[in-house]
Amino acid sequence: MTGAESFSQDAVEGVLPVRETMRKIFVLVVVTLIARAHAAAPRDPEVIHLTVAVNEAGAKIDRHIFGQFAEHLGRGIYEGIWVGPGSTIPNTRGIRNDVVAALKALHVPDVRWPGGCFADEYHWRKGIGPAGKRPATLNPNWGGVIEPNTFGTHEFLDFVQQIGAEPYLSVNVGSGTPQEAAEWLEYLTADKPSALAQERAVNGHSEPYKIPFLGIGNESWGCGGTMSAEFYLSQLKIYSHFARNYAGAGAMQRIAVGPGDADTSYTETIMKAWQSQVWSWNIEGLSLHSYTVGKWPPSYKATGFDEADYATLLNETLHMETLIRTNAAIMDRYDPQKKVSLAVDEWGSWLAPTPGTNPGFLEQQNSQRDALIAALNLNIFARHADRVRMANIAQMINVLQAMILTDRDKMILTPTYYVFRMYVPFQDATFLPVTLAAGSYVHGEISVPRVDAIAARAVNGRLWLALTNLDPTRAAPVEVSAAGVKQATGETLSSAGIDSVNTFDAPTTVAPQPIAVKSSGGGQIVLKLAPHSVTVVALE
Ligand code: AHR
Repeated sequence: MTGAESFSQDAVEGVLPVRETMRKIFVLVVVTLIARAHAAAPRDPEVIHLTVAVNEAGAKIDRHIFGQFAEHLGRGIYEGIWVGPGSTIPNTRGIRNDVVAALKALHVPDVRWPGGCFADEYHWRKGIGPAGKRPATLNPNWGGVIEPNTFGTHEFLDFVQQIGAEPYLSVNVGSGTPQEAAEWLEYLTADKPSALAQERAVNGHSEPYKIPFLGIGNESWGCGGTMSAEFYLSQLKIYSHFARNYAGAGAMQRIAVGPGDADTSYTETIMKAWQSQVWSWNIEGLSLHSYTVGKWPPSYKATGFDEADYATLLNETLHMETLIRTNAAIMDRYDPQKKVSLAVDEWGSWLAPTPGTNPGFLEQQNSQRDALIAALNLNIFARHADRVRMANIAQMINVLQAMILTDRDKMILTPTYYVFRMYVPFQDATFLPVTLAAGSYVHGEISVPRVDAIAARAVNGRLWLALTNLDPTRAAPVEVSAAGVKQATGETLSSAGIDSVNTFDAPTTVAPQPIAVKSSGGGQIVLKLAPHSVTVVALE
């Protein structure tokens, strides 16, 4: 029985004193008025309501999902990183200072090197020793150009040390031998005076290097040797045993070649074997490669594209979710404790090459659409942080979805660079679930979420929210509810067009702008997300 019903019954029977009856009438009137007021002012249907479950901490978002990839490909290493000690471009031991400074701001956790397809044709000995004495070799995968080998093992390890990152080396399984890989690891990590360790000292590094990540081959189902999953597995067992890390057991994660796009045969075969793995071999990670490409050969334009292309590529990017789910489900069957991580160590947009450049160099401009592609992928990795503990965007400089483009002594930062910079607080943060009902952005047959968001509690306790508005024409007002939050401060990356880019003549066309929003008093804040934008804010 409701209060109103009990009141009428009591009054008719004349049981209550008049004062009590008047009090009940008053309460009833007030309740009715409040209810009417609510009915008269419905919540703005345009506003998207977003809630952060601040007390439902998920997995740690490993900082290594913000890793980079630098292959000997086109102008990625030579010109992009290495200009040589004699260059007029300011450098430290041959490594350009402007690039190092820009990368330091990204807190790059690790860099994968030397490839890619290049890794399975790389012979490390050709890249050590006095600079003038190193042989010129060929780079058949990428334009058939001369590989001068002036940037080799020591130069790479100097580079990662300069930017504050960790090395992720890929050993040559395709055209190399287990002995070659084993000797490289001994050369790098032995602390006893073996001949190889002494050679390392002669070459300028008496201390052993730390190699926390080792890739065992690259795309062995493709450019790495067209191996069946079973054949690769037998190679993996040999390499994972003999490519020893002398810095101590457990200090180096070995990452096996895994799936490329939808084919799960490597995942199934390797994880099944891993389940009953014996002491003489092991892995700590399984790689996954998947690009946003549209179609092969890559021909989607990097600039000057229309909304149909924009929608197609964002939609394809979101398929990363399915790929991870599918492979994670297989891994869960054999590894329910999630000991083996899924390392998405090649991802990003792969578009038509910049007109006038060597098509083998995979150079492409980087637009605001790429910024969204980066944010969407990072959000997916964060949502799967329990299994995806490493990812490497392809590639760092001048190649594919790059952070940085260089032209002789000039350097520009791309929209993708800014997304990585804005996401720094998410490194090693604790994932927090977000709920929002933003509806869809629809173009033709394509329908994708209108807004995508992730939240996390940073290492220092701060609460962070990242939001991507996929809709190219509609702004998205988002009302954020999170226990006690009164203001949001951070940056937003928006642009005039979906294909806006930075160029050497106009280097700051796309750059983040600060935003600060305060609660209007009701404990909620409303962020207005510009069309096709990425926003990262701290909530306080
Ligand atoms: O990133 C370019 C190439 O893409 C890599 O070398 C290879 O692994 C992949 O197919």
